[in-house]
Amino acid sequence: MENNITDIIKKAEELVFCFKKEIDNINDLKDIGLIRTKYMGKKGLFTSLLRSLNELNKDKKALAGKALNNMKKEVEEKINFHHELLRNKLLNDKLKKERIDITLPGRPINQGGVHPISKTMDEIISILGTLDFNVEEGPHIEDDYYNFTALNIPEYHPARQDHDTFYMNGSKKKKLLRTHTSPIQIRVMKEKKPPIKIIAPGNTYRCDDDATHSPMFHQIEGLVIDKNISMANLKWTIKELLTAFFNVKELPMRFRPSYFPFTEPSAEVDIGCSVDSGKLIIGKGKDWLEVLGCGMVNPKVFDNCNINTEVYNGFAFGLGVERFAMLKYGITDLRMFYDNDHRWLKHYSFKPTGFPNILKGIL
Ligand code: PHE
Repeated sequence: MENNITDIIKKAEELVFCFKKEIDNINDLKDIGLIRTKYMGKKGLFTSLLRSLNELNKDKKALAGKALNNMKKEVEEKINFHHELLRNKLLNDKLKKERIDITLPGRPINQGGVHPISKTMDEIISILGTLDFNVEEGPHIEDDYYNFTALNIPEYHPARQDHDTFYMNGSKKKKLLRTHTSPIQIRVMKEKKPPIKIIAPGNTYRCDDDATHSPMFHQIEGLVIDKNISMANLKWTIKELLTAFFNVKELPMRFRPSYFPFTEPSAEVDIGCSVDSGKLIIGKGKDWLEVLGCGMVNPKVFDNCNINTEVYNGFAFGLGVERFAMLKYGITDLRMFYDNDHRWLKHYSFKPTGFPNILKGIL
C-alpha cells in the first residue's frame, strides 16, 4: 500500500511535468481544448489517476487525494491562464494585421445621392437666403414652455390636442420632442434684439403615422421683426418664395383666414393647381392646394419675450418640407421618404455635385 501511494503521487508529478512541457509549446486555441481533454477530460490522464485512488484505504485515499487535487488545480489554472494569454495574443496579432491605413486616398463611389428632403431644404434656404434671412437652430428635445406656453398655448388649451405630442417620461420640467419649429422663434426673440429676420429649418415630431403623416418630419420656420412690418411684407415674402421654388412666374396664391395661437391675424396659404390625366400641375387650373401657415406675431408672444409691442411688430410663417418636396417632385406617398428603399432613393435623389443656386438653376 505504501508503495501505491508514492507510486500514484510520483505518476502524478510526472504527468504535471509532461503537461508543463506540452502547454508551453501550444500556439493554437484548438490545441488548448485538446490538452484540456487529454489531462482533465472524463477519460483524461489525470482523471484516471484520481480514479485509481479508489484502490487505497480511507486514510491514504484522503492523503493522496489532497496531494493530487492540489496538482489538478495547478494544471487547471495553468490551462486557463495559457488560454487567456493566447486569446489576447491572437487578438492583438489580428488587430495589427487588420490595421487600416487612413493615409491612403479614398476611392470615389457613385452610389450616394442627395435625399429629396435635403434638396428641398437646401432650395428653400437658398431662396430665403437671397432675401437676407439668417439660419437659426434649436434643440429637438424641448421644454413644454418653449413649444407651447410661450407661444400662447397654455396648458389645457385645445390647440395642444392637435399636436399629438411625444412627451418624455419622468422629466421634471416637462420635456417633449418639439412638435413644430416655432419654439425656435421664442429662443431667438429671447436671445436677440430686433430687427430679427431668421429662418429655422429642422426636424419635428408628432405621434402620427399614415400615408400623409410621419412621426418625424421637417419644417422651416420664418420670423421677421422690425418697425412697421405689415401683412403686405408677409405676402410679398411668401410670393417670392413660392414663385422661385415652384418656378412658376404668375403663381396663383390666396391667403385664407385661419387660426394659430401665436399669430393674429393668421392665414393659410393656398396655391393654384390642377390635375391633368393623374398628373398634378402647379400654377394652373381651378383647384387650390394648402402649402403653409402664417400670420402677424401675436402681441402676447412678444410680451412673453420682452419685446416692446409699442415699437415692434412682425410676421411668422411655417411650412412642411415634405409637402413642398412631394408637390415639386411628384412624390405621392410620404412614407417612402423614410423607407430607405434603394430603388426609390436612386430614382428620387439628386447628384451630390450640384448645389442649389437660384441664379444657376436650383430648379
Ligand atoms: N407652427 C405651425 C404648425 O406647425 C405653423 C406656423 C408657423 C403657423 C408660424 C404660423 C406661423 O402648424
